[in-house]
Amino acid sequence: MNVSSVPSANIESLSQESRVFPAPAEFSSASRVKTMTQYRRLWSASVNEPERFWKQMAEQHLHWFTPFKTVLQWKVPDAKWFGGGKLNVSSNCLDKWLGTATANKAALIWEGEPASDGRPGEERVLTFQQLHREVCRFANVLKRHGVEKGDRVILYLPMIPEAAIAMLACTRIGAIHSVVFGGFSAQSVADRIADCGAKLVVTADGGYRRGSVVPLKKNVDEALTIVGADGERLAKSIEKVVVVRRTGNEVHITEGRDVWWHRELEYVEDQCAPAKMDSESPLFILYTSGSTGKPKGILHTTAGYLLGAKLTHQYIFDVQDHDVYWCTADIGWVTGHSYVVYGPLANGTTSLMYEGAPNWPEPDRFWRIIAKYRVTILYTAPTAIRAFMKWGDEWPKKHPLGSLRLLGTVGEPINPEAWMWYYQVVGGGRCPIVDTWWQTETGAIMISPLPGATPTKPGSATLPFFGIRPEVVDDQGNPVPKGSGGKLIIRQPWPSMLRGLWGDPKRFKETYWSEVKGAYFTGDGCRQDKDGYFWIVGRIDDVLNVAGHRIGTAEVESALVSHPSVAEAAVVGRPDPLKGQALVCFVILKTGAKASPSLRDELRAHVGKEIGPVAKPDDIRFADGLPKTRSGKIMRRLLKQIASGAEIKGDTTTLEDLSVLAKLTAAEE
Ligand code: WT7
Repeated sequence: MNVSSVPSANIESLSQESRVFPAPAEFSSASRVKTMTQYRRLWSASVNEPERFWKQMAEQHLHWFTPFKTVLQWKVPDAKWFGGGKLNVSSNCLDKWLGTATANKAALIWEGEPASDGRPGEERVLTFQQLHREVCRFANVLKRHGVEKGDRVILYLPMIPEAAIAMLACTRIGAIHSVVFGGFSAQSVADRIADCGAKLVVTADGGYRRGSVVPLKKNVDEALTIVGADGERLAKSIEKVVVVRRTGNEVHITEGRDVWWHRELEYVEDQCAPAKMDSESPLFILYTSGSTGKPKGILHTTAGYLLGAKLTHQYIFDVQDHDVYWCTADIGWVTGHSYVVYGPLANGTTSLMYEGAPNWPEPDRFWRIIAKYRVTILYTAPTAIRAFMKWGDEWPKKHPLGSLRLLGTVGEPINPEAWMWYYQVVGGGRCPIVDTWWQTETGAIMISPLPGATPTKPGSATLPFFGIRPEVVDDQGNPVPKGSGGKLIIRQPWPSMLRGLWGDPKRFKETYWSEVKGAYFTGDGCRQDKDGYFWIVGRIDDVLNVAGHRIGTAEVESALVSHPSVAEAAVVGRPDPLKGQALVCFVILKTGAKASPSLRDELRAHVGKEIGPVAKPDDIRFADGLPKTRSGKIMRRLLKQIASGAEIKGDTTTLEDLSVLAKLTAAEE
């Protein structure tokens, strides 16, 4: 199959989709929820009496040091779940299994990236008991360096077991982790440290990526020197840097500040009592892009988040004791938090972690790993599936994939063609697909099939999970008729919802709770079909979804205008066959600066440096002016049409300067 025949996530084709795939009988017979009647009954009960439902779930699924007294205290937009309760996340993921048959079962199976000289990747397996010990040891290292309850710790690591160990170690002592994806730049690390006032960074000498080394420690060194607008160092709150030795390349160690992970472990005990945390103690902060220039620090708290991650993981992947479960997300994203680490471990599931890229050294990496470990559940992103389609069927066909029994997708709408390919070529037509809709903010999956019950339709995330009430509404907040498009909102609070934006209650309220009174606004457009199935159309705010990564247009715009040659910039998305959306930037240069291919490269590199390689623009177009309304607002609709090469439609008479439009169109190459 060649590139041009791979269709993109195309909304038009979604609305015509009529295929239905019933849950396979064999799958249903062993699963937790077996029929739609059962699902409907449980779901109705859960949303009609949410407090009763969540109380029962929290008692049944979590281990409490002190039982909770209240289920929910709710005053828009502030929710308090399971008030009065005390628990610990690492205990629920690890201690819980000690002394049971699960203690010596693999908790993490880790596969390293193969070396560039052809040597196979390393392999490490940690049982629940071994992971428990490593977590206790590292928790003691954190304590030794003065990290206390409520302190913030930045984790800037490759996909190695130490990443999961460090996350769990933070939860053990009640420190708040903030994982920064390894594809973000030194500047991004510094901004995040400044925002949350972190005390300590855990990083590695480097991380392997397609045979080369990502210099993580070097980026941290640079981050610690960057000066902010007030003339002070952005990262001045950092006292210590713990460095994992991964690649063995040379790094600079600043005496008194930097310490080696492996050396530190020599000084500590392997026992560490879990801190008894309140249900609502902050658990982690994860930064994500919004529609303004500054990333927002999404805050999740202890009990509600853990319950959401555990319950959804158990029901939606219908995990069984023998499963080898592989979620391919990096722990730098929320998917890695909920479905590589917390959900699976809380369920006693073996979670596979892979360090590298899907096409290194060859495009069969995933299939090789599935065959090697007999993976039974695979959870990945549509953008990866479209890339696999492009690379050709011969790669998956080379490996026995018969161990697979369930497939999942997340991150963006999946186009029916990619869905069908996943179903047939990867799943051999046997495996149900769970298309799971959720967000960093929701903490856990919100809309998804239950694989033993829900008939699936390619491209639809289908129906809400227990306790979740999504609705499609118009601008006034009224439900739209079935079949019409609208805004996706969530009517009632749920335990794993975000509790705020770190240090910015005003933005929290404005972004999520002001669009429709009393309800949570997702930022997504959506349509419900006659069967009540939800079809997500994508973001309706100024946020793009590029290869499953969330990128704010305003963030890229502010990175561009920070370059000395740029006067003004507007960034929009264009449909892309592989990445879902591609980043197109319209750039107005300052007087004296000259448009050239080398300046284009320089600007791309500049954005990469400011934000990180994930945000590098696909396309930069120089223009003399931007189309604006009389009030000075950039006409993004028009730019989107120009970017995607579409014919200009609609009313353009409000343009400040019509000639600008002509110039812009002419500037296309
Ligand atoms: C946005 C959230 C939380 C998972 C990783 C992304 C889009 C996510 C789906 C899906 C259609 C989806 C939405 C959402 N999205 N899953 N199954 N179908 N769209 O997390 O970076 O917080 O992005 O991803 O637009 O709002 P995120």
